[in-house]
Amino acid sequence: MISQFEVPSTLVVGAGASREAVAQLGRIGARRALFVTDAFMVSSGRAGGVVRDLERAGIAVALFAGVQPDPTDANVRDGLLAFASGNCDAVVALGGGSSIDAAKAIAIMTANSGPLSQYQGYHKVPRAGAPLLVIPTTAGTGSEVTKVAVITDTARNVKMMMLDRHLLPLVALIDYELTLSMPASLTAHVGVDTLTHGIEAYVSRKSTALTDPLALECVRLVAENLEAAWSEPSNRPAREGMMLAATLGGMAFSNSSVALVHGMSRPIGAVFHVPHGLSNAVLLPTVTRFSISGAPERYATVARAMRLCGPDASAEAAGALLVDGLARLNARLKVPRLGECPGVERAGFETAVGKMAADALASGSPQNNPVVPAAEDIIRLYGEAW
Ligand SMILES: NC(=O)c1ccc[n+]([C@@H]2O[C@H](COP(=O)([O-])OP(=O)(O)OC[C@H]3O[C@@H](n4cnc5c(N)ncnc54)[C@H](O)[C@@H]3O)[C@@H](O)[C@H]2O)c1
Ligand SMILES: [Fe+2]
Repeated sequence: MISQFEVPSTLVVGAGASREAVAQLGRIGARRALFVTDAFMVSSGRAGGVVRDLERAGIAVALFAGVQPDPTDANVRDGLLAFASGNCDAVVALGGGSSIDAAKAIAIMTANSGPLSQYQGYHKVPRAGAPLLVIPTTAGTGSEVTKVAVITDTARNVKMMMLDRHLLPLVALIDYELTLSMPASLTAHVGVDTLTHGIEAYVSRKSTALTDPLALECVRLVAENLEAAWSEPSNRPAREGMMLAATLGGMAFSNSSVALVHGMSRPIGAVFHVPHGLSNAVLLPTVTRFSISGAPERYATVARAMRLCGPDASAEAAGALLVDGLARLNARLKVPRLGECPGVERAGFETAVGKMAADALASGSPQNNPVVPAAEDIIRLYGEAW
């Protein structure tokens, strides 16, 4: 079987990497950059620092700080207007997965006609967009290295997953120092998102020889560093380990795939506005228990990488320890049950769960799962995670 592997052409990694923006944009030949970020990055002063660096180096900046968490097609439209009125020739993103995904969609829409919804799915974007440089501040979605963007289609209330190599950034500046300010709950949620990327990339029916080592190293690094990063925000080695895990996990799932956890997680985000990392975290133990029988050896390898069992444990014992270990990790990180998440309520859930299961299946992600679920299975699993 042949497989294809695509990542950004330049990754600058390590403490201080975010200060390389001027040099890297110079290499691209950018003169006028659209700077895509969110309100917090502006109010915290972080966006201002990078913008000043660019302007001092003679690169004009049009600031677009209108990205909302879990960005929408309206955010993309507004950003595109700012790109045009600033007569920009490149896009820079600073922030978490939301800012980076919005910037990816804006960049492709500078060269492709609307509506954005026609690019939902796999390999649908005809032309490359404006060059994109990204600076992640969470660890993380891995969006800085993926050919994926997730944008909410407001008319259909669906989180659209788009995967296309034209969504890849050209340059990613991966600087763990920017994650030192993440509060504990954000650290936990995006950290379990990272773990889910590693696990799903490894157990996916689309896993490859190139993605397997990246996925397992992602899982190992999360097991080693997430709790320390959560309990000691200024623990630099732990923050560095989590940033590396996020990058490796992104490279892995972007070239393998995500699976049922992500498939079921996006509709929770669309209906109840639960943050992406949290909606993955609440599902991970339940969906893992459902899926193990489809790839017992692979899940056992995950359990070993997380040091939840010794090298000699049987696949069956390792699988049980994995489910238990994931549930205990959630408890230690104070991840609530699905029914306890902010904004989630029972009546709305009962009304929406049929559409949520249909939207999950329509995304294509559940079909990559070791056990491919029917709609009834998905409805039952939402109930089990409640
Ligand atoms: N494209 C991909 O490959 C991919 C993968 C997974 C998830 N996603 C998407 O990414 C989005 C979620 O991104 P996210 O989880 O990184 O969060 P986010 O970008 O939505 O940010 C959440 C909040 O945290 C704040 N924040 C960001 N960095 C911070 C820091 N260093 N210190 C303090 N606060 C900070 C932001 O300002 C925001 O208010 C979702 O839309 C999800 O669907 C994309
Ligand atoms: Fe994710």
